[in-house]
Amino acid sequence: MNNMNLKQHKKIKGIICYFSTTGNTAHLAYCLSSYLSDFPIELCDMSVNPTPNPLHYDFFGFASPVEFFGLPPKVLDWIKSIPVISKPRYAFIMLTHSSISGTAMIQFKELLQARNFNIIAGHTLKCPESYPPLRSKGFTFSNAPGPGSLKRFLMFAKILKDLLHSASEGRVILEAKFRLSFINYFFSPPGRNIAHHVMGFKYLDAKQCVQCGLCARDCPYSAIHMMEYPKFDETHCKGCWKCYNRCPAEAIYTSYLKGKGHYQETSESFKNKISKILSLK
Ligand SMILES: Cc1cc2nc3c(=O)[nH]c(=O)nc-3n(C[C@H](O)[C@H](O)[C@H](O)COP(=O)(O)O)c2cc1C
Ligand code: SF4
Ligand code: SF4
Repeated sequence: MNNMNLKQHKKIKGIICYFSTTGNTAHLAYCLSSYLSDFPIELCDMSVNPTPNPLHYDFFGFASPVEFFGLPPKVLDWIKSIPVISKPRYAFIMLTHSSISGTAMIQFKELLQARNFNIIAGHTLKCPESYPPLRSKGFTFSNAPGPGSLKRFLMFAKILKDLLHSASEGRVILEAKFRLSFINYFFSPPGRNIAHHVMGFKYLDAKQCVQCGLCARDCPYSAIHMMEYPKFDETHCKGCWKCYNRCPAEAIYTSYLKGKGHYQETSESFKNKISKILSLK
């Protein structure tokens, strides 16, 4: 074999860290990891896993939904707990949103740069709405992403794959530049207690509750305690609506919303569209 003809090719190893309350972002993270399967790549759910050792990976993906024009508190805290890395690591950002992503991308980029990540690509994908107050008014965006958004997403995935191949060949990848659309500049994240305030207090319809305990197990902020029935700790609640959305019996309601607007989990049509555009089986 002629060694001169062999390219210097190092298998670079990656991890995609994601947060998701109703599954849109989790599904994207899963599909991206399959699409990028030329590289050994792990998945890490921020809700249940501690931060991984950044030195164990050559590149990182970070995926999150937009909440109130910014990042969910869980994602902010999780990323802040990653130690500042001595040697920069490549990273890409994936955001899902339904209508206005605000300044979430810039917030994400700055947060990661402060930990010495070198952001080489980022994308924001329009997805079905998961915020019950909007869904209850008919803003469900169930057909999102449309054909244009899907094409842009595929372009992002292809460019990302090419960049990672270049990185594995030892080439230096430059930092990505992000331009927010004009409208997004006007929407920066409000303080998170507003989210809790607009949700209102939570109540339980005990006749409907099947005492499965899922709400307490899955609250990202440990704000539900399972006694005989769930008890809500309003001082820790961040108003993410996960318990309301995901309760299989729709037994949870709030001072402002009852019995409508649920987005229990990612729709099959969304899942199929993403798998199809990335040509995954
Ligand atoms: C509490 C809450 C706040 C949200 N805020 C925004 C927002 O500010 N802008 C936006 O475009 N979408 C917003 N959304 C919609 C989600 O970002 C979108 O549906 C996302 O794909 C959900 O991802 P997940 O299923 O992985 O949790 C919000 C959803 C929730 C539940
Ligand atoms: S998820 Fe719903 S049914 Fe299950 S314990 Fe919580 S409130 Fe009850
Ligand atoms: S109690 Fe419900 S709305 Fe509040 S943080 Fe937990 S899952 Fe989210």
